Amino acid sequence: MTEIRKGLAGVVVDTTAVSKVVPETNSLTYRGYAVQDLAAHCSFEEVAYLLWYGELPDVAQLQLLCRRERAQRRIDRSILSLIEKMPESCHPMDVVRTVVSYLGAEDAGIDPDGIAAPKDLLARALRLTAVLPTVVAADMRRRRGLDPIAPDSHLGFAENFLRMCFGEVPDQRIVRAFETSLILYAEHGFNASTFAARVVTSTRSDLYSAVTAAIGALKGPLHGGANEAVMHAMLEIGEPERAAGWLRGKLAAEQKVMGFGHRVYKNGDSRVPTMKAALDDVAAVTGGARWLRMYDALERAMAEVTGIRPNLDFPAGPAYYLMGFDIEMFTPLFVLSRITGWTAHIAEQSAGNALIRPLSEYTGVAQRDLLVAGGVG
Ligand code: SDX
Repeated sequence: MTEIRKGLAGVVVDTTAVSKVVPETNSLTYRGYAVQDLAAHCSFEEVAYLLWYGELPDVAQLQLLCRRERAQRRIDRSILSLIEKMPESCHPMDVVRTVVSYLGAEDAGIDPDGIAAPKDLLARALRLTAVLPTVVAADMRRRRGLDPIAPDSHLGFAENFLRMCFGEVPDQRIVRAFETSLILYAEHGFNASTFAARVVTSTRSDLYSAVTAAIGALKGPLHGGANEAVMHAMLEIGEPERAAGWLRGKLAAEQKVMGFGHRVYKNGDSRVPTMKAALDDVAAVTGGARWLRMYDALERAMAEVTGIRPNLDFPAGPAYYLMGFDIEMFTPLFVLSRITGWTAHIAEQSAGNALIRPLSEYTGVAQRDLLVAGGVG
């Protein structure tokens, strides 16, 4: 009898040099650097460079990357009208997915065989990283009945995005907390969306198709969609004092509590302490003490009842809420960051490609004869 590992749990499917997760020691490194150190000392642009090229940039390399990123932020009329045509009832992840698909169609003439050389892959990765914040900000503002704000090439990645969303650059502590979330969300091994991107890449399809698949995978509430679900749950609970009772009811009904548990970490997510500190900073600036009490109450109750620890989406949800984002925008914020990890993996998969095509064990009806006399044909 073949051993089936449902959901590929515990199965090592390939090697990677992009990041390393060691659940036993709660450690996560990007290209060898601890993610906590990167969050404390680097900009998101430096981390993007590191993921793509394997080394942190020197001053000139960083300047060049930033110049290219800033030069490609604008979206033209066709993209803006595509966003405007999308139903407001659709999820903002549908908008991001559709825009990436459209950008792929615009770019299709360049590589008739679909395969881009590594340099072109990373040029396209940078283009998507530059343009997607403008798309997400424009979509958020249209849902609020507001005109889009053009990008400002004098501002860094995080500041520019926040200004495009809210009309001004917020308090620097908010900017830094947002940038911390971008750095923590950027990369995490063979998670479901990255694996989806690698599967598509393995067929020698193009980068946009791979990213479109990744966005689709990230949208689900068991993956990136959990950061939205966390905040919906906190709002539903309303008061921290109600958290324990709410949680018991949820578990009694055999429902998952969003923002808790992880396929790889069974003893706590390595990124949570850093993001919780960022949430504390945001709460201090915005007067969000109530959500910190909610955080503590839920975390404590979940630990008491199940022993299951929070994942990164648990502090990220209330942090984004307190920054002023609409809840449905939280998972697109994850995209703005993870695009760097996805594309680093697309380049890696492309360079050492093998078609990803596992096997399945058939459990359907045993082979049987077609009874022609019964009137078939
Ligand atoms: C992300 O893979 C990555 O790296 C992803 C990510 C990244 O950076 O890319 O880290 C981002 O996706 C974070 C995860 C966000 N999802 C959620 O917060 C959704 C809630 N979490 C769970 O559904 C769950 O923990 C998963 C989906 C995250 C992991 O699922 P697994 O590994 O398949 O584990 P499981 O669902 O089989 O759970 C094992 C046990 C079960 O109990 P038993 O049947 O063995 O008695 O733990 C229980 C589960 O019921 N459990 C939970 C729970 N998580 C696990 N019970 C209640 N609430 C939870 N959240």
